[in-house]
Amino acid sequence: MHLRDAAAAHAFGAALAKVLRPGDVVALSGPLGAGKTSIARGVLAALGLEGEAPSPSFAIVQPYDPPEVRISVLHVDLYRIEDPDEVLELGLDEALDDAALLVEWPERLGDDPWPDALWLTLVFDDAGGRRLTARVPGAWESRWPLT
Ligand SMILES: Nc1ncnc2c1ncn2[C@@H]1O[C@H](COP(=O)(O)OP(=O)(O)O)[C@@H](O)[C@H]1O
Ligand SMILES: [Mg+2]
Repeated sequence: MHLRDAAAAHAFGAALAKVLRPGDVVALSGPLGAGKTSIARGVLAALGLEGEAPSPSFAIVQPYDPPEVRISVLHVDLYRIEDPDEVLELGLDEALDDAALLVEWPERLGDDPWPDALWLTLVFDDAGGRRLTARVPGAWESRWPLT
């Protein structure tokens, strides 16, 4: 899929928000500046968040709960994680009981931390936009492609 500009990334996030459920993990993979946070912001805005979501690079985990958003979401940025064990302390798997996870830099956790994650990979294209590819697990098959 082609996302020609930041607005397209935002719109893609909004489409994702329509089908997002607690227990979902959306992995947002790609280099610095690829547009991971932009998609997460599109999701959060469509879930009802007023104002722009901050990038969680420093906080690592930025939680959102109703009534601020329609469903609970943890926006996670693992860029600063050096040891996958640090992530265990974040309690993400427990949080999945009632929240959805949007995870930037998921590969910091090793090979395949969440086999059931919708795994989105962003790369830069030659025209200044981004190309997005998705690994769609069984849990997402009925929801994919997004509409
Ligand atoms: N699909 C896109 N096409 C062009 N520019 C984009 C796209 N998505 C995001 N951007 C822009 O790229 C920059 C970095 O985006 P950001 O979402 O912060 O990246 P990341 O979180 O992957 O580091 C921002 O200026 C953003 O507006
Ligand atoms: Mg980011």
